[in-house]
Amino acid sequence: MEFQAEQLRNARHVVVFSGAGISAESGIPTFRDALTGLWENFDPAALATAQAFRNDPALVWGWYEWRRAKVLGAQPNLAHLAIAELARHVPRVTVVTQNVDDLLERAGCHDVLHLHGSLDLPRCFACARPYALGAEPLDEPQGGRRIEPPRCRRCNGKVRPGVVWFGESLPDDAWRKAVSAAKDCDVLLSIGTSGLVQPAAEIPRIALQHGAQVLHINVQPEPVAGDREFSLAGKAAEVLPRLVEETFPG
Ligand code: APR
Repeated sequence: MEFQAEQLRNARHVVVFSGAGISAESGIPTFRDALTGLWENFDPAALATAQAFRNDPALVWGWYEWRRAKVLGAQPNLAHLAIAELARHVPRVTVVTQNVDDLLERAGCHDVLHLHGSLDLPRCFACARPYALGAEPLDEPQGGRRIEPPRCRRCNGKVRPGVVWFGESLPDDAWRKAVSAAKDCDVLLSIGTSGLVQPAAEIPRIALQHGAQVLHINVQPEPVAGDREFSLAGKAAEVLPRLVEETFPG
């Protein structure tokens, strides 16, 4: 059974739940893409930890700065723009993302809930004071390089990326709002996520348990169960704009 456009057209509240796949067509490697350059011998899951930062702050800070440089040099793609367009038609749209880039915001989405933090909000590793990054875009280090992290202006501690590392808890406010939206929505669009990382991966299941229709958009066909879960295989930047245009023509 296919997902019906009118389910989206008649929705009062839609949750858009996104993962790294939605930024793939902006040139941002997904989390499980093979790492390249300086990082190719590292497992991303090993680099995205507080322990890795303690062991080698310059390696970890350099990796995140390389990713931030890629995001600064990237543009929102048609999938990001389609979500902003959807929010102009559906009475209420809650955007929940696992991504740490700001491409959804740059596409015109508002109040994006970042379950895994943001590259743009680094803070002191010691005293947690927010650190204001320089506005100057980084010269994208080809393949990345080690970069000594800046120091906190209050306690001189090392500045860490503002992302949620493995083993760390998700931001309370974003998590609570995401769960509440998943319980309330009529439709949840799950876009470009492998659904491997908990508890974020619970969000589509919570929506399904509370009676929503759930549509997975992924280059890999997703296994679905029951009569309210669907899968659309394809690139987000192709499938999502087409779905929004079919649902809200003209
Ligand atoms: N369009 C749609 N889906 C895509 C595309 C695309 N162009 N390219 C890749 N995908 C899909 C892949 O098939 C995969 O299922 O996007 C998904 C990317 O999965 P991951 O790399 O695991 O990224 P994500 O699901 O966001 O990871 C979740 O894991 O490590 C943590 O914090 C990290 O936020 C990340 C979280």
